[in-house]
Amino acid sequence: MTPFSLEMPRAIHFGHGVLGKLPETVREIGERVMILSGAGWLRGSPWDAAIEKGLEGCEIHRFFCPSSEPSVRSVAAAGAAAAAFRPEVLVAVGGGSVMDTTKALSALVRFPGSAERFLEGLPGAVPVPGPGLPWIAVPTTSGTGAEATKNAVITSETAGVKRSMRSRHLLAHAVLVDPELTLSLPLGVTGTSGLDAFTQLVEAYVSRSATAPVRSLVEGAFPLMWDALDGLSRSPGDLGLREKASYGALVSGVALANAGLGAAHGFAGAVGGMFNVPHGLACAVFLPHVLAANTDVILHDIGKLVGASHGAKAQQDPVAWLASEAERFLNEYGLPGDLRGFGIPREIVAELAEKSAGSSMRGNPRELSMKERADILSRVV
Ligand SMILES: [Fe+2]
Repeated sequence: MTPFSLEMPRAIHFGHGVLGKLPETVREIGERVMILSGAGWLRGSPWDAAIEKGLEGCEIHRFFCPSSEPSVRSVAAAGAAAAAFRPEVLVAVGGGSVMDTTKALSALVRFPGSAERFLEGLPGAVPVPGPGLPWIAVPTTSGTGAEATKNAVITSETAGVKRSMRSRHLLAHAVLVDPELTLSLPLGVTGTSGLDAFTQLVEAYVSRSATAPVRSLVEGAFPLMWDALDGLSRSPGDLGLREKASYGALVSGVALANAGLGAAHGFAGAVGGMFNVPHGLACAVFLPHVLAANTDVILHDIGKLVGASHGAKAQQDPVAWLASEAERFLNEYGLPGDLRGFGIPREIVAELAEKSAGSSMRGNPRELSMKERADILSRVV
């Protein structure tokens, strides 16, 4: 068997009611608690009241992250708040942006300064030197899997790119995945976040760095994620489907942290660094084109992943079937099939093709030439 490493958060708790474990998990670490969340959804919700009641007696500072994806500047604002409050533990309650802000903050509390110096691929970048402040993840979306990953995706305003701060030192102290928290997610967010997880499962499974445990985990999670996407557009209040989506998202995070991703994420990273396109939407829009470009080398693996449960068409041509499913899901969640509506000028296709060469692209099962990348981009933007 090929040697492998498996890096995960110290503890993962999954299932209905696990939010109730938050107080004891926090108190294992300390009583000065900085809670990071989005500005809108949590405030005034029953979850918010439950969290505050459970942490009675602790000193709490609330920090509301902006709705945009994290940037060097927005992370610095969280850093300034933490420097004033001096937390012992961080709690992230939210989606991928809140998770990634908290991950970056956990390092910046211990190693103050700009996040820019830790962004991989930027000139002069250095590794995170040691463990960050312990943080606890409470995801409220089911998509990015950021609760289980060791990288924080951050936009550098000065370089105009999205890059990762990546280190095993950023893994969560504990993850509490309570699918009930995702019940009220709007249709569009359910679609974009679910399709992000869907893409991550597929790309990690066929990645050049895929390992035996990642493949086993993805084989178990993929059918559940597919069920969730297939059903949630019609039945968004179905807790069983929400549970499947949360599980698929969690596994997609473990998978990408240990096996990397592929070209769909490479393109999504390039586009997302320059334009305000939802990450999951970008991934899903690129996925069918990337699957087509990879067909020869992934046919066997995708056939195994899709299995026998999706009918004759899936068995005859599993790669084409998977690509058509991604397109169908985009449509069912009211999402566009391309990125033409985002005002991306066609003239920058060559620049985007260059910028797509980040760490995700290196996981793609075959090398895509600059011309192939530009061709795919031209069909999408
Ligand atoms: Fe993603």
